[in-house]
Amino acid sequence: MDEAHAAPAGLWKRYAGHFRIGAAVNRRTLDSHARLLAEHFNSITAENEMKWGSIEPNPDDFRFEVPDRMAAFATARGIGIRGHTLVWHNQTPAWVFSGGRMELAERMRRHIQAVVGRYRGRIYCWDVVNEAVADAGGDRLRASPWLEGMGEDYIAHAFQLAHGADPDATLFYNDYNETDPGKRAKIHGLVGDLRREGVPVHGIGLQGHWRLDAPSARDIRASLDLYASLGVRLQVTELDVSVHAGREPAAGAAEPAPELLERQAERYAEIFAIFREYRAVIDAVTLWGIADDATWLDNFPVRGRKDWPLLFDTHHRPKPAFAAVARGVEPAR
Ligand code: GLA
Repeated sequence: MDEAHAAPAGLWKRYAGHFRIGAAVNRRTLDSHARLLAEHFNSITAENEMKWGSIEPNPDDFRFEVPDRMAAFATARGIGIRGHTLVWHNQTPAWVFSGGRMELAERMRRHIQAVVGRYRGRIYCWDVVNEAVADAGGDRLRASPWLEGMGEDYIAHAFQLAHGADPDATLFYNDYNETDPGKRAKIHGLVGDLRREGVPVHGIGLQGHWRLDAPSARDIRASLDLYASLGVRLQVTELDVSVHAGREPAAGAAEPAPELLERQAERYAEIFAIFREYRAVIDAVTLWGIADDATWLDNFPVRGRKDWPLLFDTHHRPKPAFAAVARGVEPAR
């Protein structure tokens, strides 16, 4: 049968021999985008609802209602959930950081045991520590309130606690600018040191907030090679491809130019071809959203500028980028 005329099989089924296809969901899109989710994705990540500020806004005040709904959605469909994220400097309430090292460590312990323990056996992997590495300059670690309050071993501590709370979960270190040569060397150094010390870090998450023109295929491959050399699992955890170049243009159009969508499709084709090459080490590729009507990039890095970074358009129709990703693999029969 001519593949171009075959009904487009769900993306996750097409990629079943390669890696999971995931999407970030939130309390709204879990319902409003349920049809696309069910058809094309076999892993979900909470966009915000499992972050500290959402799940434990006040000491010992846990808000599990929405995360539980997400877990039930995934369990009912037999798909996976990535837990995101336990220890981060953003979206974490100020009370977490007041006091000394012992207090911070105790709050971390209670938080991780409560959250990881609740979803033990259901969340197959956790982003235990998010964005601990510094972007530029000489320091390896970012100057964060965790580092200030607990010292460098806050990272090892978090992984040990998560491992204790669910020994079967795959534990990830997750970061952005992960293909930048300077930063990837630091991420590699950090995770390598942790593993030599026996800390249970099992994977590196490449966020993948990318653009049409960057990072280069060469940097993507070099990063995957470097991280894989540590013997860890890899996931692309937050993939989106902005059609804008940083802060340009300053104001957005209402609709994307068709030419831009074609360039984006070529870019997605290039990226997924690389991911397929690395399927022996990549376990999942998660898009940071489902369709272009709900994307954080509408407000970043320019507030109120429309972006179209995902595989489905604002009306939930497949974009050229979807076709490009789907075309890379034979439909499951
Ligand atoms: C980082 C975090 C994500 C999300 C994005 C922006 O990448 O890891 O949880 O907050 O920023 O949406």
